[in-house]
Amino acid sequence: MPRIKELQCSRCKETVSAETPQTVCPKCAGSLYVRYDLEAAKGPAKREQIARDAAGWAGMWRYHSVLPAVKPVTLGEGWTPMLRSKRYGNVVVKEEGANPTGSFKARGLALAVSMAKHYGLQRLAVPSAGNAAGALAAYAAAAGLEANIFMPKDVPFANYVEAKMYGANVNLVDGLISDCGRMVAERKEKEGWFDISTLKEPFRIEGKKTMGYELVEQLGWEYPEAVFYPTGGGVGLIGMWKAFAELEELGWVTAGKRPKMIVVQSSGCAPMVRAFAEHAGASKMWENAATFAAGLRVPKPYGDYIMLEILQASGGTAVALPDETILASLQDWARNEGIFLSPEGAAATAAYDHLLHSGFLSPSDRVVLFNTGAGLKYTDVTAEAAGIPRPSPEN
Ligand SMILES: Cc1ncc(COP(=O)(O)O)c(C=O)c1O
Ligand SMILES: [Zn+2]
Repeated sequence: MPRIKELQCSRCKETVSAETPQTVCPKCAGSLYVRYDLEAAKGPAKREQIARDAAGWAGMWRYHSVLPAVKPVTLGEGWTPMLRSKRYGNVVVKEEGANPTGSFKARGLALAVSMAKHYGLQRLAVPSAGNAAGALAAYAAAAGLEANIFMPKDVPFANYVEAKMYGANVNLVDGLISDCGRMVAERKEKEGWFDISTLKEPFRIEGKKTMGYELVEQLGWEYPEAVFYPTGGGVGLIGMWKAFAELEELGWVTAGKRPKMIVVQSSGCAPMVRAFAEHAGASKMWENAATFAAGLRVPKPYGDYIMLEILQASGGTAVALPDETILASLQDWARNEGIFLSPEGAAATAAYDHLLHSGFLSPSDRVVLFNTGAGLKYTDVTAEAAGIPRPSPEN
């Protein structure tokens, strides 16, 4: 595992030391990237070592040579299956529902909690659309740390139950993740909490970058043509793009055409789609955000400027579809592929159909669609959207 060289601001490039816990850039409040000296990990021999090491380094920790030198707090996150579609020859689904706590949030929180433990932090706090709360609660429990969670009161029930069962302090908020974020910000100093908010500490990006390493390795160390990412705060998108830059620096992938990054949202909350269409440098707050894809209900992502740069640089695009179209895709994939997607994952499958029909992509393009969470975490939300009533006891 490499030592961290420094943390570098994504906006003004200022650097700060990782010797003590950091939040955002002290100069401009931009999100911080972890930078290493990757010299020792470069080249094909080091790349081949990954598979040989995997017995001792399970899940995403197979990439320990490009992750911080820290003792992992792990529950088995990462190295999730790539499922081939039965109907679309060039489509694979990255099944992130196979992670502990049933979502890709496990990756970022595993690393953030490992680092928190390393720094000796005791009391952590997070605003969450739901899955990050469950993941923080689980990893905090595994590490023996305190988790303080703020999430909307109408989160999928599973997120509430899991957080309670892991022993977190759960605060249900009459509002959105943005309101939850404000509450954490107001109280953290007085309470002595360390804020693990999306993109306000450097290690959630760093954990989620492993999705980029994995999809490239699982495709035989080659890039696909496009990656569909259900986007709320955008941590995974930002993390994967960082991974691609590192993979090229390491010589683990042939530098060339990186995948088109596709930001997927719901028409009920699509600040990134609007900002991209308007060629803006940042997003504007989406009023009255509402969608059954709870993880996409982020009205003003903190890292909007980074995502817009990535969309531009990758030749990608941003797509929003109505919840009815997302639900129809969810049903389609369940019935015809045997895959029970989360609503967020179904936004990606729906967006794939959309971009195929619009001609943005062709059927011969190899694409990766992210199912960011397990469909089973959303039985209440999906049943309601699909009009499946709970049978009464007499039935
Ligand atoms: C299942 C699921 N998909 C996608 C997202 C959006 O993730 P990000 O914040 O990395 O854009 C979330 C966030 O809560 C989520 O829970
Ligand atoms: Zn800065």
